Amino acid sequence: MLAGAVWIFGYGSLLFRPDFPFDHREVARLDGWERRFWQGSTDHRGVPEAPGRVVTLVERAAARCHGVAFRVTRGEEERVLAYLDHRERGGYTRASVALHTTSGAQIEEAVTYVAHRDNPCWLGEAPLAAIAAQVRTAVGPSGKNRDYVLSLERVLAEAGIVDAHVSELAAHLRDEV
Ligand code: SIN
Repeated sequence: MLAGAVWIFGYGSLLFRPDFPFDHREVARLDGWERRFWQGSTDHRGVPEAPGRVVTLVERAAARCHGVAFRVTRGEEERVLAYLDHRERGGYTRASVALHTTSGAQIEEAVTYVAHRDNPCWLGEAPLAAIAAQVRTAVGPSGKNRDYVLSLERVLAEAGIVDAHVSELAAHLRDEV
């Protein structure tokens, strides 16, 4: 049994498809990291022969990443972490981070999933037009890569979160650039 509340910080698919029980959610800020479409997906939004691109967190001192802090329903913590470990197994590992919520509170410890540069699915930086070209055609067991980007754009907008990297990629996909 885990002591205390378990918080999950979501910044990608966990925002539009959390798929786990939580009793509270709040927009939160993670300092020192930014959201980037630099992780390859061979199990959700692509396949090994044609990987898709999904977000990870990349460290940069002056960066800030806004996402959502979910407080896991009491009693469900171990099951939720096991579910997320499995869901995020394509290169992500658990990290413990501190968050600032928009209501002014601080969450000392939240779990988030980060795909680091040394994981086998890492793709890294590329021009947005090249990322868009890859996203346009990629599809995997969880659906079209394009839908991942546009769902993320929608849910960020609904939460009042501005992320130029996501909105510029979405604009490319809609042929606005
Ligand atoms: C997350 O959503 O927080 C992790 C990355 C992803 O699954 O898209």
